[in-house]
Amino acid sequence: MNAAERRGVWDAKTWEVYKRLFGYTRRYRTVGLLAILGMAIDGGALAVFTNLLRPLFDDLFKNKDPHLIFWMPIWIMIIFAVRGIGTFLSSYGISYIGRHVVQAMQMDVFGSYLKLPATFFGAEPSGQQISRITYTSEQVASASTDAIKIAVTEGVTVVSMLYVMLHNSAYLTLALLVMVPAVALIATVVSRRYRSISRRIQGSMGSVTGTVEESVGAYREVRIYGGQPHEGARFDEVTRRARRLNLKIALTSASSSTAIQTVAAFALAVLVFLGTRADVIDHITSGVFITVLTAMGAMIPSLKRLTNVQSNIQRGMSAAEDLFDVMDMAPEGDHGRIELDRTRGDLVFEGIRLRYPRSEAEALRGVDLRCPPGTVTALVGRSGSGKSTLVSLLPRFYEPSAGRIVLDGEDYLDYTLASLRRQIAWVGQSVVLFDGTVAENIAYGELSGASEAEIVAAAEAANAMEFIGRMPQGLQSQIGQGGGMLSGGQRQRIAIARAILKNAPILVLDEATSALDTESERLIQNALQRLMEHRTTLVIAHRLSTIEGADQIAVMDHGRIVEQGTHAELLALQGHYAALHRMQFQAPAGD
Ligand SMILES: Nc1ncnc2c1ncn2[C@@H]1O[C@H](COP(=O)(O)OP(=O)(O)OP(=O)(O)O)[C@@H](O)[C@H]1O
Ligand SMILES: [Mg+2]
Repeated sequence: MNAAERRGVWDAKTWEVYKRLFGYTRRYRTVGLLAILGMAIDGGALAVFTNLLRPLFDDLFKNKDPHLIFWMPIWIMIIFAVRGIGTFLSSYGISYIGRHVVQAMQMDVFGSYLKLPATFFGAEPSGQQISRITYTSEQVASASTDAIKIAVTEGVTVVSMLYVMLHNSAYLTLALLVMVPAVALIATVVSRRYRSISRRIQGSMGSVTGTVEESVGAYREVRIYGGQPHEGARFDEVTRRARRLNLKIALTSASSSTAIQTVAAFALAVLVFLGTRADVIDHITSGVFITVLTAMGAMIPSLKRLTNVQSNIQRGMSAAEDLFDVMDMAPEGDHGRIELDRTRGDLVFEGIRLRYPRSEAEALRGVDLRCPPGTVTALVGRSGSGKSTLVSLLPRFYEPSAGRIVLDGEDYLDYTLASLRRQIAWVGQSVVLFDGTVAENIAYGELSGASEAEIVAAAEAANAMEFIGRMPQGLQSQIGQGGGMLSGGQRQRIAIARAILKNAPILVLDEATSALDTESERLIQNALQRLMEHRTTLVIAHRLSTIEGADQIAVMDHGRIVEQGTHAELLALQGHYAALHRMQFQAPAGD
């Protein structure tokens, strides 16, 4: 049990959550008031009707009062017509507020996702992040709106029925005293249990989403490697867990209903007992007795629902808490003051060390590197030596654990994040495209104002027009989610076109042409060569032929730069680079 589960139902933190949640409804005050009025009418109308039972029995049938005989049917119609209006107002009003709250919360959580640092996305399975939007925020709304509706409607019913009872016979109402402490006890026990279970249900919904996402996304691997039984078993396990938890909720709610019903039956028995004492039985008319009995009978389902309202509240509260926790997470650090217009591209890494969160070894162990303005620096080295890690510091996805980066003579951290990122064009090792058209993918984000001519020019330079032109709608062709309708090399060329269009002073190419055939690669190399003039470029490549012309080559090994110089210098050095070079150009199968 964690701290949150042990916490009481009405402590300070919970009040915070209530207040904050309430803040979301503030804008809908009028609708809220109307809805609450509707709920009150809904609950009250029933009590008014119950109160009519005594005259119905005592005056209508026994005394045959002509006035009442005329008015009674009319009253009944009016009461239920009014109640109908109340029911409508409460149902629609509460849904109206609920849907608005869901959307507002979804927007806020999504807004956090757009601002949270890279470390957040590694820390939690993505299924959890998705289900927070699809499931948890729905829980907040449905749970809390249901809760309000039940609390008000049933609350009013209970109170007004109590009034009806007291009004008719205070003596018989004593029977209720039997119920009160028992109901209170049941409510407390139930709400404790609900809170701890609800929390676990949210977690398990995340696992369900995550498992589906993974198995569906990797449908090819699942089929080729015969992963169906494994995926099936995994899904069975997570859904089983969700089912078990949901049944626990159902069990609690069913037991509490039974308990309340038993208590209520006991109270009814007491009522009959009290009403039939020798000294009372003569004073109580059948109308009074029936009215009190009916009022009490009507109170029971309301009380039952009121004890279960805890389940809704607890579900909503633990869901809201989870959402608020994400909204409160610190966004990416951005304390810089300097608004960078266009950097000269004078980039220096000074003693950079980096340890990824939750990882033992350091990925970078003291990197010193100067990239002068307008030059090309190539990073080469074994897989896992830290090349991608080093360049991922440029857009400040991670902050070095030691050392600093200096750009144009200023500490990197002194620039505002947005203006810094505007300086960087990036083609990453794995290309990410969005569902949309080719043009939308090239002119993505801040580039979306680009003209068609500019997009075409960028696509030409990336040697992408060749295949875009052959697509049915050209630049306006849809490429499917994640660019699923394109080949690996085509995706890469779109990413390169995007980087070319950005026209930023710092260019990062992490294995940017690895998926291309030699001819396309050569064509793009030419375009990139032109692009690299007047820019500070960092190129990572395994194919050494593509970086021979670089101004300097840094060879990385185990998070360090072990050799640095031009192609010719490094060959002459007869060290790591020369060895790599020999392997690629002499081995018969080398590429
Ligand atoms: N997000 C991460 N969390 C933890 N460790 C990571 C993360 N990304 C990379 N690493 C580790 O950091 C080291 C350097 O990885 P990096 O991706 O920088 O290598 P690389 O030189 O780019 O390799 P490749 O040539 O295969 O792309 C590796 O040992 C890797 O396991
Ligand atoms: Mg890499």
